[in-house]
Amino acid sequence: MKRKIILDCDPGHDDAIAIMLAGKNPAIDLLGITIVAGNQTLNKTVNNALNVCQYLDLDIPVYRGCDRPMVKEKQVISSEIHGETGLDGPVFEPLEREEEEGHAVEFIIKTLRESEGDITLVPTGPLTNIAMAMRLAPDIVPKIQEIVLMGGCYQLGNVTPAAEFNIFVDAEAAHVVFTSGRPVTMVGLDVTRKVLCYLEVIERMAAIDNRASSLFCDLMLFFNKTQKEVFGWDGGPLHDPVTIASILNPEVLVTRPMYTEIDIRSVQSYGRTNCDYFNVTGKEPNSNVAIDINVDLFWEIIEKGIRNYN
Ligand code: BDR
Ligand code: CA
Repeated sequence: MKRKIILDCDPGHDDAIAIMLAGKNPAIDLLGITIVAGNQTLNKTVNNALNVCQYLDLDIPVYRGCDRPMVKEKQVISSEIHGETGLDGPVFEPLEREEEEGHAVEFIIKTLRESEGDITLVPTGPLTNIAMAMRLAPDIVPKIQEIVLMGGCYQLGNVTPAAEFNIFVDAEAAHVVFTSGRPVTMVGLDVTRKVLCYLEVIERMAAIDNRASSLFCDLMLFFNKTQKEVFGWDGGPLHDPVTIASILNPEVLVTRPMYTEIDIRSVQSYGRTNCDYFNVTGKEPNSNVAIDINVDLFWEIIEKGIRNYN
């Protein structure tokens, strides 16, 4: 049976690869792509999702969601990593694909209400849309099968020493999600920093020689440039697709149950995911936190995903 998912994202280079991996996969039923502001402003992240769908010929509904965090005044974006468009690098044909009518949060609520409780939410951006849906319609919460999100870290942050970008952008939303009582798998920087897209990976994917592989390479060549400038790495971490990869093959990740609390109060550590690795608080775990990744298996899954476009 296909896994039904809603991908909630802010494309973003690695989000675009997550769309690629989920969009044409025989094991996944991608019900919709919901968009949030994050890597760039909402208009840009919506356009980017539509461009990716058009380029890959994916007939998946795209919904526009929240353009700012739930509580915080300021929208944080990431142009130093993802460029002015949020998806710098590839050049797309003029955009003809259109977004759906209606708000992403309404789509999430309606789809969950009508479901048999068999839908997994896969957020790879700030958690605003998901948290808003939970607050607007609490009756949908028990219908969420699972949440597999990219965000957080129990080690070092990337936007501050303490916090990872997706959680930092809207920590209040993350707090809502982590206290929802639904199973949360947290795919954080601790593992995504291990899947660095070195040139040899780009060459391996280029050899597949189809539309998806050429988009992959255009995206990653730009992404690697900014990752080198900002973090000094020769290969950028392919954060977001790890969520989809772990749905396709859970063996790709090692996880550990932990109680995770989002810091929504401090100044220095705002947005930190405080993961109780050693259970020093004695609190019941509310998340499965990824602590290791099978790097070879991950790249095999990516390669297979790109080959689905042959
Ligand atoms: C996360 O932040 C974004 O820049 C990426 O798309 C990813 O979702 C990594 O911290
Ligand atoms: Ca993202």
